[in-house]
Amino acid sequence: MGCKAGYDCSMNGDLDWHLARVMLEWQSEMGVDVSMGEQPVDRFAVSAEPVKQSPASSQEPAPQIQADPVADARAAAEASADLQSLQQAMSVYPHCELRLGARSLVFCDGVPGARVMILGEAPGRDEDRQGKPFVGRAGQLLDRMLAAIDLDRRASSKDQAVYITNVSPWRPPQNRDPRADEIAMLMPFVERHIALAKPEVLVLMGNTPCQAVLKRRGITRLRGQWTQAFDVPVLPMLHPAYLLRNPAAKREAWADLLELRARLAQ
Ligand code: URA
Repeated sequence: MGCKAGYDCSMNGDLDWHLARVMLEWQSEMGVDVSMGEQPVDRFAVSAEPVKQSPASSQEPAPQIQADPVADARAAAEASADLQSLQQAMSVYPHCELRLGARSLVFCDGVPGARVMILGEAPGRDEDRQGKPFVGRAGQLLDRMLAAIDLDRRASSKDQAVYITNVSPWRPPQNRDPRADEIAMLMPFVERHIALAKPEVLVLMGNTPCQAVLKRRGITRLRGQWTQAFDVPVLPMLHPAYLLRNPAAKREAWADLLELRARLAQ
């Protein structure tokens, strides 16, 4: 969807920085993803014009340095000695364009070092606003699900505590799924996050973390089956947002919660 520059998108003299940002965020939430000028642009005429080259550039093309987003993410993640430096490294990581549309970097909630770590997909609107994962409707259901097996992200004891993060720390535009290339560049951070948080078990909430960690989709088949990734036992589960849309599936979610509780009791 486009928005006409010069209308409501324009930055007139009365608009301060904060108001401009709020207006831009509102337009982005409404689905605006391109800004259009008042005057039509004839793209054919533009591309027909010969490109002027300086004598130097026509003889000697400037060397192109290609960034490798995955290698850069790996180097930054591996250099992070603790969770705080990992968060800092992610906050300055330049390659993932999801960051451009997000208000916050949603890093984690809960207790680092908890026995259970939950890996979700990506922040939604409420998470982006509050800077914490799983605080919207799906998050509230997640809290109730965890409480049913005596787990709590606010607990002080490590046995009851939970640590929560997402594959993407940035809210994707219109809550779309993170793309495969975005997941690939975020994975080194996720892997390091798991290594630094040192959970005993990792719960993958929904398809995106299954794709990211297990390289497999199909959560309705994967759910409830223990597997291993990054040297940690991993349990895929139905995402609470899915359960809100399909309440009948809560039966399976309950079976998976019991499975998790049994594992923790061992
Ligand atoms: N859904 C997720 O996967 N993560 C959140 O933080 C919120 C909703």
